[in-house]
Amino acid sequence: MENTLKIEFNQLLEKASAGAFNDDFLEVLANRFPGEVIFSTSFSYEDQVVTHLIKNLNIDIFTLDTGRLFEQTYETWTSSRAFFKKNIKAYYPDPESLQQFVSENGPDSFYQSVEKRKACCNIRKVIPLKRALQGYKVWITGLRSEHSAGRKEMPQLEWDPDHQIIKFHPILHWTTEQVTDYVKTQHLPYNHLHKKGFVSIGCEPCTRAIKEGEDFRAGRWWWEDADKKECGLHVHQ
Ligand code: ADX
Ligand code: SF4
Repeated sequence: MENTLKIEFNQLLEKASAGAFNDDFLEVLANRFPGEVIFSTSFSYEDQVVTHLIKNLNIDIFTLDTGRLFEQTYETWTSSRAFFKKNIKAYYPDPESLQQFVSENGPDSFYQSVEKRKACCNIRKVIPLKRALQGYKVWITGLRSEHSAGRKEMPQLEWDPDHQIIKFHPILHWTTEQVTDYVKTQHLPYNHLHKKGFVSIGCEPCTRAIKEGEDFRAGRWWWEDADKKECGLHVHQ
């Protein structure tokens, strides 16, 4: 039997003409699901734009602190708290699972195999994400279709069967230029690694800067095949 939230999702989808959503759709969601909408931030350029868009709306924010983030990311977190004046909930990996995994495999086992890399992402991000989304009906992200081939055809509003939640990507169709211009003109705090050739920024040991002409996500898990480069936060049907 279809659950009631999925029925609501279908109703929202029907209202959108040709899958397009007006600028005020974030407000529509915040008012329709008060206290049940949450945005996930990694403090990227994109996420800073979304934080600014939801600043005055009844939308919560969380971040997944993997314990392996760049110092610059923590600095952006600190400056964002001061700038946006919104509470940012922090989620951490389960200590028992992490202790066991690192004790058995060492601190940097993600370089050894895709399986170990995915196991690390699972403990540090995917499982904490499930906790973060608990009790919420809508999950907002800063995903963009230009990020990767897999994200090109993504719908802006989706049903996430894994988390049984409505997912909305407000800046899915924005270009890189639009995003960087927005950060600049609104004087938003940003991760200073963006000035050093880093575009998509995750954990420190698994992210490098990219060279001119390289793909947006070339600096993520660069030692793996391109088609394996997802950490499991966003699984598309
Ligand atoms: S990932 O799947 O490769 O790690 P990516 O870095 O492209 O994700 O970010 C896409 C979106 O996922 C972000 O806009 C944000 O909503 C969410 N996200 C990624 N990393 C985190 C994190 N550490 N904490 C919270 N949300 C995150
Ligand atoms: Fe672990 Fe690297 Fe995944 Fe971070 S990105 S959770 S360090 S494998």
